[in-house]
Amino acid sequence: MELVFASNNKHKLSEISEILNPGNFKNYKIKSLHDIGFYDEIEENGTTLEQNALIKAMTVYKASGQNCFADDSGLFVNALNGRPGVYSARYAGKNCTFAQNNEKLLGELKNEPNRKAFFKTIVALVLNGEIHYFEGKIEGNISTLPSGTTGFGYDPVFIPDGFNISFAQMTSEQKNSISHRRRALNKMTEFLNQNKV
Ligand code: IMP
Repeated sequence: MELVFASNNKHKLSEISEILNPGNFKNYKIKSLHDIGFYDEIEENGTTLEQNALIKAMTVYKASGQNCFADDSGLFVNALNGRPGVYSARYAGKNCTFAQNNEKLLGELKNEPNRKAFFKTIVALVLNGEIHYFEGKIEGNISTLPSGTTGFGYDPVFIPDGFNISFAQMTSEQKNSISHRRRALNKMTEFLNQNKV
């Protein structure tokens, strides 16, 4: 069966294809938006991860008629009452860079002893018109300085629990074995494999 992944984010596409490798996802072929010739901008105007994931998956499902999934993720920082959360991409303003987001975050947490945070991913799957959600979460701490060069987004400032290096200091295999996206996608693959859909 073919499943479309409704994202044009090249970091995510490579993470997803590494996670959903043929070894653990035998019966499905993942297609990108490029593969199906979908090039429209999708406005993510929801106020929750669930809403944004569904907007993306449903838009592509309706346009293509193909089963489809999309993810939406964010970094939730305890001392900031869960910010930046669903607004993680645009935290430092429209069209801001990852470095600007990290700078803003570290600035807001200056002298803040509570560094606890988590990444959360919601995957929305639209399968034959039915909607299914899968959640993945990873807890950790925000460092005081960025470190590492791999990955993207807040990876240089996020130290997952049980480690003393940031996501950006890990290899992609290491990050992808524990990440929020991995955990949500594992639930989706289990669901698809169990239900043989
Ligand atoms: P998206 O909505 O899933 O594209 O994620 C929104 C924003 O959250 C991204 O632009 C990143 O800033 C941040 N983010 C999501 N996942 C990750 C991750 O695995 N590492 C670092 N930052 C992430």
